[in-house]
Amino acid sequence: MNCNVLVTREIPKEAIDLLRANCETVEVHGGESLLTREELIGKVGGRDGILCCLTERIDSDVLEAAEGIKGVANMAVGYDNIDLTAATNRGIPVSNTPGVLTDATADLAWALIFAVARRVVEADKFTRAGKFKAWGPMMFLGGDVTGRSLGIVGAGRIGTAVALRSRGFGMAVLYYDRVQNVLLERDVAARRVGLDELLSESDFVSLHVNFTPETRHLIGERELSLMKPTGYIINTSRGAVIDEEALVGALRRGRIAGAGLDVYEDEPRLRRGLAELDNLVLLPHIGSASIATRTKMAVMAAENLVAMLKGERAPNCVNPEVYDENIT
Ligand code: DGY
Repeated sequence: MNCNVLVTREIPKEAIDLLRANCETVEVHGGESLLTREELIGKVGGRDGILCCLTERIDSDVLEAAEGIKGVANMAVGYDNIDLTAATNRGIPVSNTPGVLTDATADLAWALIFAVARRVVEADKFTRAGKFKAWGPMMFLGGDVTGRSLGIVGAGRIGTAVALRSRGFGMAVLYYDRVQNVLLERDVAARRVGLDELLSESDFVSLHVNFTPETRHLIGERELSLMKPTGYIINTSRGAVIDEEALVGALRRGRIAGAGLDVYEDEPRLRRGLAELDNLVLLPHIGSASIATRTKMAVMAAENLVAMLKGERAPNCVNPEVYDENIT
């Protein structure tokens, strides 16, 4: 196709190959440094499509500079980095990469559960520092996982996958969601409860909601104060679902036992106080970062973009109303 696309980050080769097989020009912004907002605006003009990541804010200014674009393919399941209303108003289809990262992200939520409860990171640092002199009956005592209760906030694809993994650990599962999850109720006898009840009854609270204005600071000081003092909170969704300032306070005061975060309110900036806390495990947003998963995400994003460039309906379009308006 006589198409010109911009790929905003270096992504797995399989996806670039797919784009190159279909498009005349594929510019990849490689390297570690992100495109600045000005660079992004400067680069999108004259393109037919953009394959971007959650690190690029695709707002109305960017979309305006990209006039005539046929689609934006986000290499992520979340698309809160894209002003969807602005894209839809301009008739620009936007796609995401659902499903392919469910297992990797659920696995990482479990890695955080174990890491924080059993103090794996603290113990690793201690051992590397040469401080392990003898087995200690009181050394690195943490919380149990097996037999405890797991509260899933947002029982969609990833929340469900996290909950199903609890079968191996004999956990009681609670979930909070707008809709009933029959699979969870059948397979792990999960109980659907209100958020306050979930917070006060769960030993582990794992967050899996989409980021929207309604879920911003869903977990704040009040919610943290409802948790058990022995409870842990895990966030692999979007940082701003938790009020980080309230979290720092709760962890400092020992109001909850610990937390595991893969995402941050003002990513990649860490709120003051977070990095000093030992009862907290911090990861750099690597929920989907397995080789196979990132390859699938990139290829899926490229397939979506190729479909959009061909004028076809993107398989994973998140604003399908653009087709209803434009295609008869
Ligand atoms: C997503 O896809 O939304 C994750 O946060 C990154 O893989």
